[in-house]
Amino acid sequence: MVQAARGRAPRHTPVWFMRQAGRSLPEYRELRAGTNMLESCATPELVTEITLQPVRRHNVDAAILFSDIVVPLKAIGVDLDIVAGTGPVVAEPFSTRADLDRLPELAPEHVPYITEAVSSLVAELGPTPLIGFSGAPFTLASYLVEGGPSKTHQRTKAMMHGDPQLWSDLCARLAQIAQTFLQVQIDAGASAVQLFDSWVGALPRADYLRFVEPHSRAVLEGVGDAVPRIHFGVGTGELLADMADAGADVIGVDFRVSLTDAVQRTGGRFAVQGNLDPALLFAPWQVIEARVTQIIEEGRSAPGHIVNLGHGVLPDTDPTVLTRVVDLVHSLG
Ligand code: CP3
Repeated sequence: MVQAARGRAPRHTPVWFMRQAGRSLPEYRELRAGTNMLESCATPELVTEITLQPVRRHNVDAAILFSDIVVPLKAIGVDLDIVAGTGPVVAEPFSTRADLDRLPELAPEHVPYITEAVSSLVAELGPTPLIGFSGAPFTLASYLVEGGPSKTHQRTKAMMHGDPQLWSDLCARLAQIAQTFLQVQIDAGASAVQLFDSWVGALPRADYLRFVEPHSRAVLEGVGDAVPRIHFGVGTGELLADMADAGADVIGVDFRVSLTDAVQRTGGRFAVQGNLDPALLFAPWQVIEARVTQIIEEGRSAPGHIVNLGHGVLPDTDPTVLTRVVDLVHSLG
């Protein structure tokens, strides 16, 4: 996985799945029963076991730390919860300059359980790489400003355009938090990192460049190139070149853009990750097999390709289909 991310030819095309740890696995549901999501994320033994479950079951080529993008925000004292079936919910949404006072800088001491979980995982995983991650400033800001998940991002866009200085100061603080959160994971032994800007596809390119890119760049350039950096968003076909240029080594591609187009749009200079539609895992096997084969073919035009979904595993996915996809990718060489 790391070889592919660096644009070198690995022995075989690597594969892992966003949200591979989670509700699609009965062993996850069993382990999580009775423990709240954020509590689980702060318990290194649980994090370690949940992170390892999909590696054991599917034989994927990478583990991703079991955590959440709002974990560092909770750690610095933001009053928020993760509500099952909804996502992160913030008790008092951010709207004024005074709200910045509720967002102190993140220090490694705020997240000792992350250091502990990553260290224990790196020891357990042996040669399998561990991917660390963080939410990107825009996606984190969207949860803080909207107070929860949003389809329209209306309050976020209103702040961005109505008070650009406040927006910029908020994102600069979130960039510090994201960079530190990634650095903690790198320092504890993570082999790669992924910056999730899941909802930034809601923006036109000009707004991305003006209001978001400088902050995401600060995160990616801030962590440096000690480990490969994956930059991912959903619905970001129009932003791929800019997201790649923001300091990424690998560009995450959702399922709306073909890998051929993604490679062309990023000038053939970046490794790509993706782009199987998670909903397609519910289709007959022949359909999945044909699409995976096509994705691997198209991925050969990039300097490196990591097979993944175009977004996270859907909760009611049949996990045996995921294992079959891994076997197929490995058999295709
Ligand atoms: O396996 C993995 O990918 C690692 C774990 C992981 C989780 N969240 C666990 C989780 C990762 C990488 C994330 C990142 C995350 N969290 C993102 C970026 C990735 C993406 O999907 O775009 C976002 C936007 C969030 C915010 C968030 N947290 C959402 C939208 C949800 C789902 C809400 C729901 O219940 O449908 C969460 C909760 C969450 N994060 C769960 C898991 C396993 C579900 C918790 C549960 O089991 O109830």
